[in-house]
Amino acid sequence: AQVDPKGLVEAAAAGGYAVGAFNMHNPETTEALLLGAEQAASPVFLQVGRALVPHVGLRKAYEMTRRIAEESEAEYVIHLDHGPWDEVFEAIRLGFTSIMYDGAHLPFEENIATTRHVVEVAHSFGIPVEAELGRIPDADQPVDDWTAYYTDVAEAERFVAETGVDLLAVSVGIVHGVPLADPQPLDIQRIKEIKAVTGVPLVLHGASGVPDAEITAAIDAGVHKFNADTDLRHAFRAGIEDVWKQGDRQLEEAMAEGRRRMVAATVGKMRVYGCAGTAGG
Ligand code: G3H
Ligand code: 13P
Ligand code: ZN
Ligand code: NA
Repeated sequence: AQVDPKGLVEAAAAGGYAVGAFNMHNPETTEALLLGAEQAASPVFLQVGRALVPHVGLRKAYEMTRRIAEESEAEYVIHLDHGPWDEVFEAIRLGFTSIMYDGAHLPFEENIATTRHVVEVAHSFGIPVEAELGRIPDADQPVDDWTAYYTDVAEAERFVAETGVDLLAVSVGIVHGVPLADPQPLDIQRIKEIKAVTGVPLVLHGASGVPDAEITAAIDAGVHKFNADTDLRHAFRAGIEDVWKQGDRQLEEAMAEGRRRMVAATVGKMRVYGCAGTAGG
């Protein structure tokens, strides 16, 4: 059943764990996340993200997710990931119960002003808002100076106070995707400082490719929602490739193996995040 997103993250913060938020790409990957949540007895954020929306459109993405999720026994939230300005309002109209508005590319004052407006509209519908401060590079993008990407602690304090966001996504050494070389270690001290001045649960995007020990340290420092996509997509892909290596099999056979692998990978992440076993709580 659909559950209250704010309640989920508050329970995670109180319990010292984090909830997983994962991106779907088609029916099979949506099913994989829900089956993973059922197997792990975990709630799950189903994220409609930046790959799916241009592919099928926001409405179809939402309808597909909702129809499949309604058949499941899992506790889920349908969340808009990295929503641009127009899309967050469209998502609210469609029935999303959780949104991320991403104004991180905007000048700071504009990010504050637009985020504050999104928060006012979303809160009037009882919908919590995640926003982002700092810049998250892609895995294949060379980074000379990490400090230019990091979330600034003083800006984070002002941003949360002036916008009223429910969750803040921070940049602390993470990348979208899995880095080919050694990853930058997370700046755990910065997470603690941002947590101390903002008081809101923090979100770590780009959780694929982050070592388990750093995930655990990030939770202890104040992260209570992790976004992961690439690791699960890689698991799905490995299943497809293994079937097709054996010959020209049916698409369904390949997709079923992809789904099976992605379920296992989802359960694994839920155990690391600590949300496994918390459904119904
Ligand atoms: O004020 C909000 C936006 O500018 C538009 O919102 O599309 O839900 O009317 P709306
Ligand atoms: P990864 O692909 O690195 O897991 O990032 C996912 C993400 O942040 C989605 O918002
Ligand atoms: Zn992200
Ligand atoms: Na990543």
